[in-house]
Amino acid sequence: FYRTAASPPSSNFLLLGPSGAGKTAFTTLLEAKSSPASKKAHSTHTSQTSTLISVSLPPTVPTASNRYRSVNDPSLKDASKNPIRYHLRDTPGHGKLRVSQGISELQAMSTSNDAKTKLRGVIFMVDTAALVDEETLRDTATYLHDVLLILQKRALGKGKSSTKRVAEISVLVAANKQDLFTALPPGSVREKLETEIDRIRKSKTKGLMDASMDSAGPDAEEDEILGDDDGQGVFTFKLLQEVGVKVEVVGGAVKGDQQEEFGSGVRRWEEWVGMCL
Ligand code: GTP
Ligand code: MG
Repeated sequence: FYRTAASPPSSNFLLLGPSGAGKTAFTTLLEAKSSPASKKAHSTHTSQTSTLISVSLPPTVPTASNRYRSVNDPSLKDASKNPIRYHLRDTPGHGKLRVSQGISELQAMSTSNDAKTKLRGVIFMVDTAALVDEETLRDTATYLHDVLLILQKRALGKGKSSTKRVAEISVLVAANKQDLFTALPPGSVREKLETEIDRIRKSKTKGLMDASMDSAGPDAEEDEILGDDDGQGVFTFKLLQEVGVKVEVVGGAVKGDQQEEFGSGVRRWEEWVGMCL
């Protein structure tokens, strides 16, 4: 169980995605960057449990709240002494552990009203060199579909019962391993995932798919389809924006962080985090 001594309202992010995507490698890198003193010897291997880490955002990364401030603003100069911190929860991506860990963390955190556990954003990491494999693509898209459906239900569900809009939870699809020459560029990753999710959604509409996520009552059927078009058109992440779930696909590489040629390492993911804060 995790506790911080100084705890202003914390900003929590959940790291999801299939096994081998690089989640733990990313977590380890952020941890090392946040506290260079503690150089732990790390070897990544398949995770079996979730871990929560506290990360500091590099002072040069803008946040949504300081973006329009003047450079002379003293609070910006303080940033390097007193960096903005956030929490990241790494989860195991293995298919057998998803429901008990990643998915249930998502369900708990996305519905939490407690400021300490409340979710700001989801980082869904994918191995962009592995997506050419049909099986991997299907597995990845299925996981992402289930994640997005939970967020859609949350966005729609509460909107009905109260006039207050629920706080937005954005999704970053972190297109990792851009350093590999076999990696698909982020644009094709987006296309492949959209096409595959469309397929999943269509077969779900037809009721052909095993409704493993379906704990639904009698009148929940409409909520079961991703997107606000009843599964009629072609699925795009843009469709989800209409229901209040923003999805971005951004390339990067945990290996070769700081190297421009690899999509600037993890910098653009940190910038995405900053925009959620
Ligand atoms: P699970 O814990 O099983 O869910 O996997 P994970 O997502 O935590 O994957 P992990 O971080 O263990 O990384 C899997 C492998 O990918 C490791 O060998 C990493 O070193 C490697 N890896 C991670 N990021 C990159 C990257 O940007 N480029 C390359 N080439 N390899 C990477
Ligand atoms: Mg791991």
